[in-house]
Amino acid sequence: MYILVFTAALLPAVSTATTLIPKTVFDSTANLEQYFTYNYPWGGNTHNGAARMDKAHVAISSPGTLTITAQPVKGQPPATHGGKQLAINYLAGAIGAKQHFTVPKGGGFVFSGSFQATTTKGTWPAFWLTAVNGWPPEIDMAEWKGSGKISFNTFNTSSVLSWKDVQYNDPAQFHDIKCELRDKNGKDTQVKFWMDGKEIATHVGKDYTGKPFYLVINLQMEGSSGKPGPTTNTTYSVRNLEVTTL
Ligand SMILES: *[C@@H]1O[C@H](CO)[C@@H](O)[C@H](O)[C@H]1NC(C)=O
Ligand SMILES: *[C@@H]1O[C@H](CO)[C@@H](O)[C@H](O)[C@H]1NC(C)=O
Repeated sequence: MYILVFTAALLPAVSTATTLIPKTVFDSTANLEQYFTYNYPWGGNTHNGAARMDKAHVAISSPGTLTITAQPVKGQPPATHGGKQLAINYLAGAIGAKQHFTVPKGGGFVFSGSFQATTTKGTWPAFWLTAVNGWPPEIDMAEWKGSGKISFNTFNTSSVLSWKDVQYNDPAQFHDIKCELRDKNGKDTQVKFWMDGKEIATHVGKDYTGKPFYLVINLQMEGSSGKPGPTTNTTYSVRNLEVTTL
């Protein structure tokens, strides 16, 4: 009896994390569509590379696994980005979380998942957070820019950023990525990155606390990853995605 009372009193203090996106999110298309929309979450199907996104290139390839395919194409109209025209050489896919993520004072989030991403030149898969209002904030929780490396970035301004590039071995295998956002002082947010359970870097995002983020998973092509990209299909797969509060 005493033990029961004691345990019940302790529980709320040790387990307060709330699951915002559950690991079952990629178990079915219905689950995916409960939490995500297709294309970029700010609207639009092109961005800063050579891929035009559509729903047809996003699939639950097997229960539990999301697979985005980039398919080489010809004859697509160009995209416009930053006042310039960008040739579209691929059809691919992007998904954006329906909910926005705002680090509250004294709180934060954990984003995690397992990723099978290519580092081939011209392929630019990413798992990232970007500002709903203006820019930055942006946190690249993982991005692969066709160089054989994986990059982790946190932007204070377009030219002032914390970045860490590390060698990315065995791209055919799934690798675990975890990123923790934690309010530091009511204003700035501490950002910690792990790969395969190993801590990689700690950054601080200036004035990130209280600002909403979009969560994006996409397979862009060329752009920052160089060109020409591949002449055959490229895939990017994700499983065990989860988002919780701290
Ligand atoms: C970004 O701003 C935060 C808060 O002022 C600071 O701690 C961090 O060092 C800055 N990052 C860079 C790369 O200067
Ligand atoms: C490339 O991807 C597209 C879209 O998923 C698919 O329809 C096509 O069959 C793929 N081509 C090959 C050669 O696998």
